[in-house]
Amino acid sequence: MKITNLIASTAAAFVLVTGVASADENAVLEIDGQVMITRAPAPDHMNIDEVISGWVFRSDETQALEMDDFENPGMIFVDQAREAYETVDGAAGESCASCHGDVASFEGLRTVLPRWREDAGEVWSMEDYINNCRETRMQAEPWKWGKPQMDAMVALISLQSRGMPMNVAIDGPAAATWEQGREIYYTRVGQLDMACANCHEDNYGVYIRADHLSQGQINGFPTYRLKNARLNSTHARFKGCMKNIRAEPYGVGSDEFTALELYVASRGNGLSVEGPSVRN
Ligand code: HEC
Ligand code: HEC
Repeated sequence: MKITNLIASTAAAFVLVTGVASADENAVLEIDGQVMITRAPAPDHMNIDEVISGWVFRSDETQALEMDDFENPGMIFVDQAREAYETVDGAAGESCASCHGDVASFEGLRTVLPRWREDAGEVWSMEDYINNCRETRMQAEPWKWGKPQMDAMVALISLQSRGMPMNVAIDGPAAATWEQGREIYYTRVGQLDMACANCHEDNYGVYIRADHLSQGQINGFPTYRLKNARLNSTHARFKGCMKNIRAEPYGVGSDEFTALELYVASRGNGLSVEGPSVRN
């Protein structure tokens, strides 16, 4: 979305609710015979009643792309990651497969990440786990967050949990990080002086120009965007939204975005893992 458009539409203060061609909000997301949970009762900690996958808000054409793995362009990157998974890299002479075996062994992992990592004393996203293995177990260079190799591997591992409901823990040692993420979510920032919540909690379902505003859920990440024709990580998406409101974004891979990731993930507890999803 162009900043100028955004400012113009923000001035119009989200009054443009009707009249734009709408997606079928009752559509069922079925992939490969498996029905995804795209609507669920909101977790207790939230101010709204229902959580809804971003897929629901997309146009019929975009929705259809995600319903067929042969049409989903994100799958090309998953295939690349499958290859990387089998490939020896680093001084230790190991591949992911040489220790982890079939990638299907990661089933369920996506649903609980980010989560507290005891020996590191902090919350880890999937990227942290992958780089920890690359550096300490493979003696290989870490992959940069938000770059194609990393996003593809995150997609491949996420895919192993497809259909399973998100279920991140927000209590215990992760509670302080979750609070930090919550704080960021509700804090107004940038020249437009807006918080994530102003769009994704107060105004989901309305249109900003032709863009149908969703709840900003991350159960579908990494997501293939038609806009840039590649996989996009959660942190890259957060960064884009912060730039759109003319705020100084936190860094991809920063502690702030990891905290925000945990918080936003918890807002989607109950929704199916869809990664890699397709969005505009
Ligand atoms: C030399 C063996 C070894 C290699 C090679 C290796 N890993 Fe691991 N990995 C482990 C062990 C052991 C654990 C569990 C302990 C830990 O988290 O440190 C683990 C944990 C993980 C986890 C967290 C799993 C969980 O259930 O908590 C992920 C994700 C992961 N590895 C991904 C990868 C990827 C992707 C690669 C290749 C880029 C890779 N690993 C390479 C041994 C390895
Ligand atoms: C000015 C309104 C606005 C603000 C403020 C905003 N976003 Fe967004 N965001 C959008 C629009 C528009 C989209 C694209 C349509 C959609 O999926 O909602 C989007 C998309 C997203 C998505 C992708 C959802 C999906 O299903 O693919 C995520 C995640 C997201 N935003 C998170 C955030 C977070 C976190 C913040 C706060 C740092 C934030 N957004 C702030 C407007 C906003």
